[in-house]
Amino acid sequence: MSQSKLTDRFGRTVNYVRLSVTDRCDFRCVYCMAEDMTFLPRQQVLTLEEIARIARNFVDLGTEKIRLTGGEPLVRKDILELVREIGTYGLRDFAMTTNGSQLPAMAESLRKAGIHRLNISIDSLDAEKFRSITRTGKLSQVLEGIDAAREAGFEGIKLNTVVMKGRNDEEIPELIEFARRKHVDISFIEEMPLGEISEHDRGLALCTSEEVRDIIRKHHELVPATEDSGGPARYYRMKDSETRVGFISPHSHNFCSTCNRVRVTVEGRLLLCLGNEHSVDLLRVLRGNPVTDDKLRQTIINAMDLKPERHHFATNGDVQILRFMNMTGG
Ligand code: 5AD
Ligand code: SF4
Repeated sequence: MSQSKLTDRFGRTVNYVRLSVTDRCDFRCVYCMAEDMTFLPRQQVLTLEEIARIARNFVDLGTEKIRLTGGEPLVRKDILELVREIGTYGLRDFAMTTNGSQLPAMAESLRKAGIHRLNISIDSLDAEKFRSITRTGKLSQVLEGIDAAREAGFEGIKLNTVVMKGRNDEEIPELIEFARRKHVDISFIEEMPLGEISEHDRGLALCTSEEVRDIIRKHHELVPATEDSGGPARYYRMKDSETRVGFISPHSHNFCSTCNRVRVTVEGRLLLCLGNEHSVDLLRVLRGNPVTDDKLRQTIINAMDLKPERHHFATNGDVQILRFMNMTGG
């Protein structure tokens, strides 16, 4: 195991990088985007080669885990080439977050190209509700995608559900049964105030992880899992299933003290924290003259000093962070 050379001022070691490969998406989820989004012009977006170069240098600095995110990573042209390239870097964990819409056609190639694990977002099992939350998504496509992923033999598949009161909170028991039936894990996420939205009031819609656990406990006993997930989720097990139930609780349980990760947006901004604007421009380094890997690595190392101690999300839905999740990398 390589020792990470990335440590911040609070003694946290960074060995996990989330790379956003596109800000585009075929869905318009109500918590993630405004209805009419403008996307980045091509020249402001990292090329696949630039993304690979960033990934390789992070690995040289001791990164053991990379997650590709978006937007929707599978709508980026030639994404499999990038996956194949990063797949040769010998990562302990190589994962992708996807909305699942392209998985019916792509799951198998994605697995073969080197992705170990998938997170697939699904907020409802009701076609109409699914449509109203994603605005453009088709449930049947995602269900097919989940099955294709299972057949492709990933090391792990996890469903992600953002819980919104009055919207999909009453579907929690059904989503649990679905995960158990499909032999996959599931995480319930508290909605974060990233980007200004007018579609719903985030303060009113917030369903805390504690509330979600209370709902599940009416059906299943939940036993805290002992293993560390290496991510922000806290996991529980049920007695009669291998399905793990995770909770990502940016509001009710601050996970910052064990934060081991940074993000790179598709514009090449190295973000030191999900809930803060601290960032460093890697694109400028990559397109500067001369470009050297040394310079890139030194910029990354220096950036660690900017990593804030914690995020402060207001629970009333007030937005302090103007970038949307599709720009942040989920
Ligand atoms: N709060 C919480 N989760 C979000 N996601 C997108 N936007 C938000 C938000 N504002 C989640 C999606 C998906 C992943 C990409 O991030 O559900 O699982
Ligand atoms: Fe697309 Fe994921 Fe954002 Fe939904 S949450 S709009 S699927 S990037």
